[in-house]
Amino acid sequence: MKFTLFSGASGTSAAGDLEVDLLAVALYKENLSESEVFTLLNQRLDGLLVRVAEEERFLGKPQQTLSVHTHGKIAAPRLLLVGIGPRGESSSADLRHATAKVSRAARSVGARRIGLILPAGRTDTRAVELAAEGILLGRYKFDRYLTSDEAKRPDVLESVSIGLGPEADAMAFSAATRRAEIVADAVARARDLVNEPAAEMTPTRLAAVAEELARARGLEVEVFGPARCRELGMGMFLAVAQGSDEEPRFIHLTYRPKTPAKKRVCIIGKGVTFDSGGLSLKPSQGMEDMKVDMAGSAAVIQAIGALAALESPYEIHALAAATENMPSGKSYKLGDVLKSMAGKTVEINNTDAEGRLTLGDALTFALTLKPDEIFDFATLTGACMVALGPNIAGVMTNNQELTDRWLAAAKAAGEEMWQLPLPDRLKDQLKSDIADMKNTGDRQGGALTAGLFLKEFAGSTPWVHVDIAGPATESKEFGALTKGGTGFAVASLAEYLVPRT
Ligand code: BES
Ligand code: MN
Ligand code: ZN
Repeated sequence: MKFTLFSGASGTSAAGDLEVDLLAVALYKENLSESEVFTLLNQRLDGLLVRVAEEERFLGKPQQTLSVHTHGKIAAPRLLLVGIGPRGESSSADLRHATAKVSRAARSVGARRIGLILPAGRTDTRAVELAAEGILLGRYKFDRYLTSDEAKRPDVLESVSIGLGPEADAMAFSAATRRAEIVADAVARARDLVNEPAAEMTPTRLAAVAEELARARGLEVEVFGPARCRELGMGMFLAVAQGSDEEPRFIHLTYRPKTPAKKRVCIIGKGVTFDSGGLSLKPSQGMEDMKVDMAGSAAVIQAIGALAALESPYEIHALAAATENMPSGKSYKLGDVLKSMAGKTVEINNTDAEGRLTLGDALTFALTLKPDEIFDFATLTGACMVALGPNIAGVMTNNQELTDRWLAAAKAAGEEMWQLPLPDRLKDQLKSDIADMKNTGDRQGGALTAGLFLKEFAGSTPWVHVDIAGPATESKEFGALTKGGTGFAVASLAEYLVPRT
């Protein structure tokens, strides 16, 4: 599938003559009547567009669509209006969600060629990127386990012509669509890793994926088995792993830019490939989706591939302590005292709070690399979803300045994140009588005590913790998001680590 630019002497007025199977016009809520393209197409359609829009109450609300057959009055047999929402209030995500609707509509009618007109005033290269990302992500399907021909029906989309004004710059356009292709592909591959059943996506398999990616993108890769992890003293990570028949893998991918790096950044992802809870076993309902507990590692692994392709100016290390959390005769037990790589001892009062144990040792390993900044992405607590709902990530930190820059990037990327505090007072909840810490506090403030636990391992290095328990998955399709894994955090990482020149 390729993106092409069409501008023409009179810009988007050529839309009616564009030979495509589906012509889509993205509109802000208030610019139906102001839209030059809308007016021109309405004329070509003898006023039909205005009448149908009125009858069907098309107002340009977010993701609202209106499909019209054009009966030879314009070159495209089908016209699709898609809403973005109010111009002033709409986010990066709204434009991406709108164009995802376009590629879904194109799929359902078997369109090979799409024409897409962006709203006046939103034809900058960032808008092109978001529109292209939406087109690509709306087509995402995880269908490798479906066997019927109907379900397997291939996507026939060949080209998307995006209409910009006559001032459009072809070089900037192709740079924007290339960036969108790289980011959307990394998001899709992260979704694949999350959607793959845990029986397949084991720690060993995840490491193999990382090794394959390293070859494809020219990254350095190191994978540690349990013996090397023991030498390093990763007592918390290994305790979580010991109940499983699957061996753990500690994955370390490195990207070095060609020119001297401006800073060194570690991105850590939680890599629990299945979280049964261990001896603190989850009830069946709570366990059902726990193949998603490696979504953080899926995001950082695929993100570093994209960062390499986009030639980030920074040295980047992606780290994942991959393991299952299982009950067995070998499992770590409640009351056990673990020795972390950092030397701190931890008394276990809940084996289902395993993520912070794996991440604690990964943070200590990260510190040995002497990074300027550390980020971790983890499906860490149900409490974070209680606090912020199912779609917003919780952000906790030991450095406000770094967090401000991170949140700005996330907002530009169209991924919702909200900062939560790390109140020192709650550290009392983690006090143990026989060890330096316990691994869990009370039910209330559960996202914060998890964050406080991790903070102990970050030391004084600027660190941002992102709890993605909610947004890592979707329960139903929403715009560019598909049901299941979302690839959350990949777009923000690209935004933060690949500055636009
Ligand atoms: N992986 C879970 C958190 C989770 C829950 C992620 C729902 C995605 C959706 C994590 O390991 C966990 O079990 N957390 C416990 C912590 C508790 C024992 C302190 C939780 O949230 O209940
Ligand atoms: Mn757990
Ligand atoms: Zn977990």
